[in-house]
Amino acid sequence: MRCRRCRGPAVVEVRRHNAAFCQECFVHHVHETVKRSIKSHRMFGPDERIMVAVSGGKDSLGLWEILLDLGYRAAGMYLGLGIGEYSERSRVVTKAFADEHEADLIDVDLRGEYGYDIPTAGKKGSRSTCAVCGLSKRYVFNRVALDHGFDVVATGHNLDDEAATLLGNTLRWQTEYIARQFPVLPSREGMVKKVKPLIRLSELETAAYAFLRGIDYVVEECPLVGGNTQLRYKAAMNQLERTSPGTKAQFLLGYIDRAAPLFKHEDTAELSPCERCGQPTTGRFCAFCRARAQVLGERLGAPPEKSESDRQVAGELSEEVLPAELYGGAPAALTMGS
Ligand code: FES
Ligand code: ZN
Repeated sequence: MRCRRCRGPAVVEVRRHNAAFCQECFVHHVHETVKRSIKSHRMFGPDERIMVAVSGGKDSLGLWEILLDLGYRAAGMYLGLGIGEYSERSRVVTKAFADEHEADLIDVDLRGEYGYDIPTAGKKGSRSTCAVCGLSKRYVFNRVALDHGFDVVATGHNLDDEAATLLGNTLRWQTEYIARQFPVLPSREGMVKKVKPLIRLSELETAAYAFLRGIDYVVEECPLVGGNTQLRYKAAMNQLERTSPGTKAQFLLGYIDRAAPLFKHEDTAELSPCERCGQPTTGRFCAFCRARAQVLGERLGAPPEKSESDRQVAGELSEEVLPAELYGGAPAALTMGS
């Protein structure tokens, strides 16, 4: 197998591109792919301050490294979820990466800052562990980015994550959520712009990248994630991909390039400030404040109208995509099936 770019011996095969690369050219391919996403979706410019939400997994650490390599002003932000050893190890790995790259890292502890951790919230609240985890992350990322004056929050969602989420939303024709599933969510009052620069790279590509670059990352999946429906959608997509390489990319990128404009008008949510924290929401209190109050056993005042409240919770949770890195990666498998 020869490298497509330099004709030297290849180490990585990317089946959907019908291409193979040597180590150096694979890194080049990853950088070019990310550059293309940043440019085509106008994610950010060279002078903007980027906050990378880092979990300690291959995708977010890989993203951080790529952005630093490309010369962007990218700081990391780690949120300690309190999931025992898993969180501890994620923190250590993230800190080591920041030190090695002499990059800024903001380290926030959910319990220290907000009084609860994810295992407790999963047991005490009415939401599933992953749901409360997802909404806590989104809330804290946005808050920290606002407080520190970042222009944009970047997350490590890859092609597989996004394709699985799109499949789930499409199977139920959740048009409002489909409308919001875009690689760029523009800023609005109280909400920092959010971007997903890895959207054109599969999970195997991000795993190979982290492996080849010698990035030390947490391979284990989150111990609380078992039975997650997104994992089933990923498995279904992988099965299709095996027989028809490129299916995943066609599904997701086809949506972004051609179908997304058709769904734009479905995102109709009117936002006003949460009466507790001021962050924009569709009801009186934001999902984060309601979830937190429930976990801590506090009262938030009169609850909003029931129908509105249910709709709002569903809407806010729909944005949730758990980073693929929480499911671990397979750096040893350097043959890309996708
Ligand atoms: Fe969020 Fe596991 S439930 S990382
Ligand atoms: Zn709030």
